[in-house]
Amino acid sequence: MPERILVCVAWPYANGNLHIGHMAGAYLPADIFARYHRLRGDDVLMVSGSDTHGTPITVRAEKEGLSPRQVVDRYHASFLRSFVDFGISFDLFTETDTENHWRVTQDMFLRLLERGYIYKDKMTSLYCPSCRKFLADRYVEGECPYCHYNEARGDQCDECGRTLDAVQLVNPRCKICGTAPIARETEHFFLDLGKLSKPLLEWILEDKEHWRPNVMNFTRQMLESGELRGRPITRDIEWGIPVPLPGYEDKRIYVWFDAVIGYLSAPIELAQLLGEPEWWRGWWQDPSVRHYYFLAKDNIPFHTIIWPGMLYGYGGLNLPYDVPANEYLRVQGRQLSKSRNWMIELVDYIERYEPDPLRYMLSINMPERSDSDFTWEEFIRRNNDELVATYGNLANRVLTFAYRNFAGTVPEPGPLDEADRAMLARAEAAFQSVGQEISLCHFRAAISAAMDVAREANRYLDAKAPWFAIRESREAAGTTIYVMIQVLGHLRMLLCPFLPFSSQALHEMLGEEGDLLGRQYTVEVQEKERRHTALRYEPPADGDRWRPTRIPPGRKLKEPRPLFRKLDESLAEVEVQRMLERAAQ
Ligand code: MF3
Ligand code: ZN
Repeated sequence: MPERILVCVAWPYANGNLHIGHMAGAYLPADIFARYHRLRGDDVLMVSGSDTHGTPITVRAEKEGLSPRQVVDRYHASFLRSFVDFGISFDLFTETDTENHWRVTQDMFLRLLERGYIYKDKMTSLYCPSCRKFLADRYVEGECPYCHYNEARGDQCDECGRTLDAVQLVNPRCKICGTAPIARETEHFFLDLGKLSKPLLEWILEDKEHWRPNVMNFTRQMLESGELRGRPITRDIEWGIPVPLPGYEDKRIYVWFDAVIGYLSAPIELAQLLGEPEWWRGWWQDPSVRHYYFLAKDNIPFHTIIWPGMLYGYGGLNLPYDVPANEYLRVQGRQLSKSRNWMIELVDYIERYEPDPLRYMLSINMPERSDSDFTWEEFIRRNNDELVATYGNLANRVLTFAYRNFAGTVPEPGPLDEADRAMLARAEAAFQSVGQEISLCHFRAAISAAMDVAREANRYLDAKAPWFAIRESREAAGTTIYVMIQVLGHLRMLLCPFLPFSSQALHEMLGEEGDLLGRQYTVEVQEKERRHTALRYEPPADGDRWRPTRIPPGRKLKEPRPLFRKLDESLAEVEVQRMLERAAQ
């Protein structure tokens, strides 16, 4: 039975280019998961968009002398390019500054207010006497109360990754002028997490055994602590979604409150694009549809407490099925940091390398259970030893041999011996094991299991040595090549969720028809008054491909070419040097 799966992926702030941390934390695991389910023939909808509101955007705009909208335009365009470059197959990647998203957000706000999950209250907030304004979130900096990093922001500490409340900062200062702010009273709307914690606790304890332990423990601890109270969901700022009530013209809805609503507003937008305005309901109101959320660990509370709380309060909408949050990716042993310019941007990487080697490295080394480290040395080693030597050369040896000795066709096999049958059985069985691991979001285990098939195939091929065998018996060599072509056909599918570009290339060399990659394209969406660009994806037509199929004898092969390129070891040092220079600027 095909399943229906909504794949929700964290909405990146449109205030900087995407880097490999974003990729490892959210986009790659989501894409692997979505591609796998599509190959199985499941019905998948994968959505996200640019997170365009709040102080992350305005702080950047002020720094660059641009308007917030110009900042959004610049980075949104950059995101779309990177997703196409790396094959991140969003059915819809939109943004939050759209009429549709504003309307859905305001509707959610009013309904939660009406149902008593949002209330109004006074609070003290930090106020800069010299700038004469409230210092929301990123307009205040200071020492992190946990790790004592001195440049923690009012919403989060970049060093330890913890989410903060501006008033928790030690020695706070105004980001604009450096003045120490004072506490001042202001009125805001609050999401009543106190009221929501009991139903949410029941919800997670009911049937969430499949959650990752870190996600479950963190969420459970917060819900059981009894410390959850109202959380302000409006701010004294000018950039964001207006509060849909008279008298609050100078306040805006908090960016986190609106961003999570994107998971709901994006399918609604797509429904309109498809000309079937009610289509989104099938994804949100049918309880058999499973919702998966892909994000990095600093986003956990927003996806396991706040958003589910909002959905619960709203009523009639599905709550998350799983939130397989990833830990952090370090780079060269150091915490990735935007402010210190310690990162590898996707737009930079792609100027010099292919997408699949990075997808490979981040899959096999995904920060699933603990932080993991990206080093250029390991990247080059894995590229050369694993992608090139284990997989690419395997394909190349077999296909070149077939090309030269069997007139570029799949040879007719003779009788299969035990080793042949064992090899085929081994590769066929991997559909079950690799698929199982992906469906459990165990991506490292999944890609290792697929690569084990390639390793086994190398042993098999070396033992059979068709290049010698052919002198004695053309049939024996032909049998081995036949078997190997079947194995390559299986590997192309098994690795397709991880390495879609090279799978497509191998698919073509095997003389197979059709497309594994799908088609990514942009659309201009014109609303009443606004216009934005969205990325769309059209999956390959044939979704029933996650199973062993046979490439028949006589099939014409295409001329083989290498699947991967060997990288010179000296590049590691060049790349590290580049990073050090950038960080020093
Ligand atoms: N923009 C946030 C970040 O980059 C993530 C938002 S995820 C969503 O950390 F749920 F709000 F959409
Ligand atoms: Zn100030």
